[in-house]
Order: sequence, then structure tokens, then C-alpha cells
Amino acid sequence: MTKVLIATDKPFAKVAVDGIRKITEAAGFELVLLEKYTAQSDFVNAVADVDAVIIRSDIADKEVIAAAKNLKIIVRAGAGYDNIDLSACTAHNVVAMNTPGQNSNAVAELAFGMMLMAARNNFDGSSGTELRGKKLGIHAYGNVGKYVALIAKGFGMDIYAYDPFVAKADMEKDGVKCLTSVEELYTVCQYVSLHIPANDKTKKSVNFELLSKMPKNACLVNTARKEVIDEEGLLKTFAERADFKYVSDIEPACKAEIAGNYANRFFFTPKKMGAQTSEANVNAGLAAAQQIVDFIKKGDKTYQVNK
Ligand code: 3PG
Repeated sequence: MTKVLIATDKPFAKVAVDGIRKITEAAGFELVLLEKYTAQSDFVNAVADVDAVIIRSDIADKEVIAAAKNLKIIVRAGAGYDNIDLSACTAHNVVAMNTPGQNSNAVAELAFGMMLMAARNNFDGSSGTELRGKKLGIHAYGNVGKYVALIAKGFGMDIYAYDPFVAKADMEKDGVKCLTSVEELYTVCQYVSLHIPANDKTKKSVNFELLSKMPKNACLVNTARKEVIDEEGLLKTFAERADFKYVSDIEPACKAEIAGNYANRFFFTPKKMGAQTSEANVNAGLAAAQQIVDFIKKGDKTYQVNK
């Protein structure tokens, strides 16, 4: 019998697990669960006899892939797949997929939650500012970026985006002004919301040079990955600009230094929370389950990322 493992250090909402069970069992598959595991070795041991795996930000490294002798498919229920060793998957003939777009609204809503916290001085009782009329720069206009633009319209923000892979016309039809360089985005926009993936080109790319270009009362919003930030440059920006704020869905490595010196100019979630809503869990989890069924039964490789 085809065995499917859900391996989630940060578990899905129960309603999502129930939905995944329904889809996999209707296909005649067995579903097993590994949740809130404390050691990576638990994950390695759990994959020994499974045919398919659903993960979130769980680390599917070389060791996991090599230990999964029957593995045919691994699906990252979410957008970013920087946590999967794609070469190891390809070498072991394992198809790796993500579920693009399924948790994007949840991430975009958190970006606004954190933006409001920054604008209202972390709700410390002092007089803050409003988002209306402020310039928002969307750094990468993919699935999350589009939802950010949609919500920003409701807030009455002046919306800009930079994404070399998206046509100007596609941004303009959403009421977004298309900028042609990343430098321009940081120069123009008081708020910049990051939606770039973490890869060799983007890691540490948000650096002092870019941050120092931002207008007065700058606020960087990171619901992407902490790895895209050059933390040395981030600390330098905090030190040189008393008007700079940073809100991030996951703590940077230099959290203690920021917290110790720049109180009320930051907010960090303790665990990545962007996609942690039952709606996003259901959307991404059920999509992952369906993609596994469609691949095992029909060979459907839509959404494969290790081509
Ligand atoms: C993603 O890449 O989809 C988001 O970062 C969500 O990650 P999570 O599933 O670990 O919450």
C-alpha cells in the first residue's frame, strides 16, 4: 500500500490534517503523521518506508532523501522550497513539488499586521502614523506580492513593485507602478515588503547599500526568508538611522543585538507564522495531498520544481 507521511515540525491545523487524510485514504493510501518532532533524526527515521512525504519548512536534506528508500515524491506544502535538497531528489529519482499560491493570502495579511505594528510603534501607547498615502514597494511581484498589492489598495497606499520576471502591464492592471531597478524601489518607498525567494542570487542581497537609500521613517517588512538579509548591513542601518524599523516573520540571527539596542523599532515572530492559518493549512495541505495522488495514480508532474 502507498504510504504517505506528513512530517511537520510546525503542525497543520486539525481541519487540514483531516482533509489530507480524506484525500489520501480515498485514493487507497495509508497516511502517517510525524508532528512537532524534536530531533532531525526523528524525521530521518520516519521516512524509511514511505512513498510520499508532505512537509512545510522541515529540512529535507541529503540524509533524509537517502534514508527514504521508497520515496517517489516530496511536496512542500507552501511556496519556498529552499529547505529541500533538489539535487539529492533528482539523484534519487524523487519528484519534488511545491504548492504555489496556496498560502499567499495568509502571508500577505501578516505583512500588513506587522506593518501596522511598526506604524503604531508596537502599540506602546505613543502616537503613531497611518499607512494611507504612504509609498509601499513590493520587492518581487509573485503570488504573495499580488495579495499585498490588493490589500494595500484598501489601505490607500501608493503601490510600487520591482520584479524583472513580471511584465509591466501585469503590474499596471493591478494599479501597481512598475519600477525598473531594485535601487529605485528602495529609493522611492518608505515601506518595502520582501517577497523574494532565498537562493544563491538573493541571499544577503538586501544590504546596507539598499537600506540606506530608503526615505525617512523607513520600514522593512520581511515575510520572505531571513537569509535574504545581509545582517551586518541591517545592524549598520539600525545604528546609523534612528528612523529605521524592521519587522520580520522569523527572528534574524542578530536578534539579541537589535533587541538590546533598538527597542520598539522591530518586531519578530518567534516561529515562522506567515502561513500559520487554518485556511492556508487547508489550501496548501489539500493541494499537496491531491498532487501526490495525481502523481502516483496518473504521473502528473505539474508543480515539479526539480526539473
Ligand atoms: C512558504 O514558503 O510557503 C512560507 O514561508 C510558509 O512556510 P511554513 O509552511 O513553514 O509556514
